[in-house]
Amino acid sequence: MKALIIGNGGREHALAWKIEQSPLVEKVFVAPGNGGTALEKKIENIDIGINDINKLVLFAKKEKIDLTIIGPEVPLSKGIVDKFIENKLKVFGPTKLAAQLESSKDFSKKFMERHKIPTAKYKTFTNIKDAHKYINEEGAPIVIKADGLAAGKGVVVAMTIPEAMDAVDSMLEDNLFGDAGARVVIEEFLIGEEVSFIVMCDGNSILPLASSQDYKRLLDLDLGPNTGGMGAYSPAPIVTQKLHKIIMDEVIHPTIEGMKKDGVEFTGFLYAGLMIDKENNIKTLEFNCRMGDPETQPILFRLKSDLFEILLAASNKNIKDYEAKWDNSSAITIVCASENYPNQPKINDEIFNNNNNNNNNSYIFHAGTALKNNKIYTTGGRVLGVTAKGDSLKLAQERAYDLIKDIKFKGMQYRTDIGQKALKKGH
Ligand code: AMP
Ligand code: GLY
Repeated sequence: MKALIIGNGGREHALAWKIEQSPLVEKVFVAPGNGGTALEKKIENIDIGINDINKLVLFAKKEKIDLTIIGPEVPLSKGIVDKFIENKLKVFGPTKLAAQLESSKDFSKKFMERHKIPTAKYKTFTNIKDAHKYINEEGAPIVIKADGLAAGKGVVVAMTIPEAMDAVDSMLEDNLFGDAGARVVIEEFLIGEEVSFIVMCDGNSILPLASSQDYKRLLDLDLGPNTGGMGAYSPAPIVTQKLHKIIMDEVIHPTIEGMKKDGVEFTGFLYAGLMIDKENNIKTLEFNCRMGDPETQPILFRLKSDLFEILLAASNKNIKDYEAKWDNSSAITIVCASENYPNQPKINDEIFNNNNNNNNNSYIFHAGTALKNNKIYTTGGRVLGVTAKGDSLKLAQERAYDLIKDIKFKGMQYRTDIGQKALKKGH
């Protein structure tokens, strides 16, 4: 069979790498892919952009693609899945209406309120004076979120009132995020440990994936601005069996059922970003309608089951008979980012890696890279996801940081403390 993956990040490299291993699959296309997917044997990059929906449909028809998987949120929010379905092409992902859970924070907060899914107290504003007044009433710390999609950069955790005011001004007045920031959600600041909880849903049944934790801030010790994610590991030790059940009962099931009640069937990956406090109370920070990046890399590095077989079953509304089997190891991914990420990353620098480190215990997933004349160059903010697994998180972490020693490109930045929080707690 033939699979098509839409996207060009580390998540899509990991998806393609895993799907390529399925005995059912003869060929994987990635549109547009990156330097990493260009180097894989059974994978072919196709020069079509993620938002060029008509061209993607034509390609899928011409090549008789058996299943298309959409990696990133933007084409989902533009209705790529609806277009594939209209053209009778098999696809795994949510429709445009279902993807609003991610594409509008205001939609998702109202949805959570309506269906009693635990989340932080909030209000939505389009008027700058009203927003300032609310911030003055609530005080700091407080969280300001652009309503629309902003590549993980539309959230400001403001520790002071002036910072919160600035964030509101940049979104409502200076249009920092364009239309995405024309409405802002202002939210209560929550304290706790963050977990990424991702499931697959076929419209009815739910198949949970392994838990993971992501490091969102740019710098060590969780300092610096929010990014798309600087590293992740799986499993998240905080998610015990008991907590897993609570998350399914309080967040995941009510979300899928709530969507159904609202007349929208949810098919695709549903990613709940959760904050867990000391008493194990859960609050939902956000929903994403796709897999996480970089969470996908350590999650799929541990998956023993045939991902393509499960995705195909899900696209046929038939995952209830499937279970995902996981390696008992821990896996970790450390993101190497380019200079100046997340603002205006400097790109087009050659990447040097003195080792070919790809094997069963470690893999370098590419993100913002391109292959030109047998050399690999940086093309984006997050460049590589150095991934390793081991019997313990500590071993996985040591392996991954060892690999990074061999990798060099101009201005490369990475966090040196990925996994450290869990290790400090004795996991
Ligand atoms: P989001 O895109 O809504 O998940 O927000 C991005 C990141 O901002 C989250 O992963 C958290 O680290 C942080 N964040 C979001 N909402 C809150 C909140 N209410 N309290 C504290 N931190 C938050
Ligand atoms: N790593 C967070 C995300 O994919 O949204």
